[in-house]
Amino acid sequence: MFTNRVLSGMRPTGRLHLGHYHGVLKNWIKLQHEYECFFFVADWHALTTHYDEPATIERHVWDMVIDWLGAGIDPAQATLFIQSHVPEHAELHLLLSMITPLGWLERVPTYRDQQEKLAEKDLSTYGFLGYPLLQSADILIYRANRVPVGEDQVPHIEFSREIARRFNHVFGREPGFELKAEAAVKKLGARRARLYRQLRTKYLEQGDAEALAAARALLEETQNLTLGDRERLFGYIEGGGKVILAEPQALLTEASKMPGLDGQKMSKSYNNTISLREEAESVAKKIRTMPTDPARVKRSDPGDPEKCPVWQLHLVYSDEERKEWVQQGCRSAGIGCLECKQPVIDAVLAEQRPIRERVQEYLDDPTLVKSIIADGCEKARRIAQETLRDVREVMGLNYG
Ligand code: TRP
Ligand code: SF4
Repeated sequence: MFTNRVLSGMRPTGRLHLGHYHGVLKNWIKLQHEYECFFFVADWHALTTHYDEPATIERHVWDMVIDWLGAGIDPAQATLFIQSHVPEHAELHLLLSMITPLGWLERVPTYRDQQEKLAEKDLSTYGFLGYPLLQSADILIYRANRVPVGEDQVPHIEFSREIARRFNHVFGREPGFELKAEAAVKKLGARRARLYRQLRTKYLEQGDAEALAAARALLEETQNLTLGDRERLFGYIEGGGKVILAEPQALLTEASKMPGLDGQKMSKSYNNTISLREEAESVAKKIRTMPTDPARVKRSDPGDPEKCPVWQLHLVYSDEERKEWVQQGCRSAGIGCLECKQPVIDAVLAEQRPIRERVQEYLDDPTLVKSIIADGCEKARRIAQETLRDVREVMGLNYG
């Protein structure tokens, strides 16, 4: 039950750019070696805001998955799937909606922010209000406890924790829970029971996380408990009833510092991106035409790298020696801007080379991607169905 499972999703926005690569994908690639990872395409989430664009969604889904694979997400390490292919997410969303106070949803900061930002769209819909709850279902259905997200998504993870807590509180409480839990404590044997009680008190009175971990470890190594008693005792450490849905934690991804072609953050909405599989010629052209320090009108005018977006790219791609060369050469007009840009062009192309090669393999054989996703969906579904079985049961829905 207390696994180290990582889950994250991305809305299908189509081809990804270097900002996604440096900001998100490199982190996922690292995590896939450290944890059991699930990464999915949040296509229903895309529909909450782009319900009027059904023609593009499919292409965006596959383009994005191919970019994940091209970037180095390894289907042998991580499970990749599409949200709408695991319909269990929708059932959990519906069931959770029964206990979700409207006020909680209205208070999520992204609700009003996004409505204002996308003012041209009518977002006073039921689906859009429910965005964070659908996200909670995505997470809770895998009992994932680590969710790598950017800062903007942290309120959604906190919301998911509150929903999990409320769910456990409402449905984890069987009649006579305390009595049953106390009886289960006795079954631990005198020595273990004493230790369990001490650790529980320490956790409940002082919030001591080590005591919580120790009490859980004690239960893990206790063999002779029934499944029901085990779950009761796990829940009882924390005071409440059974823990049916695990509370997730955000694994904060550092904000991407990847600058775009104009020095602002790289983003599709600023039209300053280099895509992950941008053609070499186009990369070179985009960088060659980047604006530089406006003080350098003529080749002989000295400049200041701090006022130049190209310098921002050197910070990402260049070693100390190269950076020193830029600083010196720019301030003394010893180098020209095109000369300064060339190493950046070379570095971006070198970074993209293995990505472009892998992407090509997947483009050459589309069945490969389809079967990776089919396998991922199947694996995800099995876990989702297990959780849903438990959820249905505690909600009184397990009749045939
Ligand atoms: N809302 C997330 C975003 O916009 C995408 C997402 C949907 C997600 N479901 C999720 C992220 C579950 C993490 C976990 O980036
Ligand atoms: Fe920018 Fe380099 Fe030109 Fe200086 S030399 S202005 S850092 S491109």
